[in-house]
Amino acid sequence: MASSPTPGNNRPVRGKAEPMPRPSVLKDGSLEAIAEFITEGKAKNIIVMSGAGISTAAGIPDFRSPGTGLYDALGKYNLPYPEAVFDISFFKDTPSPFYRLAKELYPGNFRPTLTHYFLPLLAKKNLLLRSYTQNIDMLERLTGIDEELLVEAHGSFATSKCIKCSLRSESDHVKKHIMNDQIPYCVKCGGLVKPEITFFGEDLPLRFGKLAQVDFKKCDLLIVLGTSLQVEPFNRLITRVPAKCPRLLINRDRAGEEMRMGFDFDDKWKHSVKRDALFLGNCDEGVRKLAQLCGWEDELQALYDDGHAQMKLAEEMEALALSENDKAKSTDDNKETLEDPEAKEELKVKDTKEAHIDTIKDELEDIISKFETAAVISSTTATVEKTVDGEGEVVTETSVETDVVLLSKA
Ligand code: OAD
Repeated sequence: MASSPTPGNNRPVRGKAEPMPRPSVLKDGSLEAIAEFITEGKAKNIIVMSGAGISTAAGIPDFRSPGTGLYDALGKYNLPYPEAVFDISFFKDTPSPFYRLAKELYPGNFRPTLTHYFLPLLAKKNLLLRSYTQNIDMLERLTGIDEELLVEAHGSFATSKCIKCSLRSESDHVKKHIMNDQIPYCVKCGGLVKPEITFFGEDLPLRFGKLAQVDFKKCDLLIVLGTSLQVEPFNRLITRVPAKCPRLLINRDRAGEEMRMGFDFDDKWKHSVKRDALFLGNCDEGVRKLAQLCGWEDELQALYDDGHAQMKLAEEMEALALSENDKAKSTDDNKETLEDPEAKEELKVKDTKEAHIDTIKDELEDIISKFETAAVISSTTATVEKTVDGEGEVVTETSVETDVVLLSKA
């Protein structure tokens, strides 16, 4: 009986008969082959693994690209070595470089790229088993994807806790400190409060280990995007898919070839079947081409356009609310003092609140007309916060939150 083909018994041997062709799950190592695999319905549980390269088009530098990567730009922080900025032992003694960097990287100023929107597209088609990202920028979340489908393997800025007593801190409180160049300390024990980003020397989030154990066995197509695959244990995930599971890398540079069971783009007979594909170039370009080959390009573009229009609208609304807030505040400051300070405060709050909502309703029409898609306000609510300054004077801040739902104009 003929033995099944293995790397050992099929290697070309000089002077002997031609070797049997090695079994392959892909016609070749191209994007076209991956698209064919998808459109033939062979991929139903796709896992996407990503790194900083998917966010460079959003304006966030990656870590290791020579010249442009963060680790080359950290000279101003006088670090013993660049990764020290994310090293927990170093951080405990010298926390300020991390907080300075966190101020630059803090989520809020960046928008998801076309590549990020490939995730909700796969989810919409019921093909996404999970997205595993090393990124801490939270841009995946901003695409509106169901968060159950996301694993932020290196944590994120979403939550913060004390490194001594683990007490959680309000993320707004931590953000305020970081933005004002202050170090946030724990209100309970005085320890350093750190966003729950996984530093070198720390365990990855429990969710990572728990889900990876189950997901990777089920994976039938692995898509790896924008990562140098240099950081463990994340990089080892590419070896945990079944032996016949095709794997695609879209990246500017080759990566993941050195490790055991790593990628075998050049057919070096590392695996029993040929299954690895490579697109060398920018993520947005590779992802767009893949979507195009699958017949999904328009849908991908629409998700991106609608997502960005929605964010632009929300930003304009927020700016409007802030400027109205400033106006209302200065009007209030000029008001005569009432005899009863409590009553004065009540009145001020009520006036401000109503002024905001009215102004927003009036000016919204104008903003909406700028968009190709139509917008509908689902609710407009005002929240009022009272704060007391150092001299015991009550200062009232009003912020307006608006939920906007965008509908396609069709
Ligand atoms: P790296 O900076 O190590 O690798 C980014 C990869 O993306 C490189 O291979 C780049 O060539 C490639 N790249 C950059 N822009 C691209 C683009 N537009 N299109 C395609 N490829 C592009 O970043 P990661 O692999 O994500 O840890 O780094 C992994 C971890 O190392 C990070 O999570 C971080 C860091 O220390 C922590 O923050 C804890």
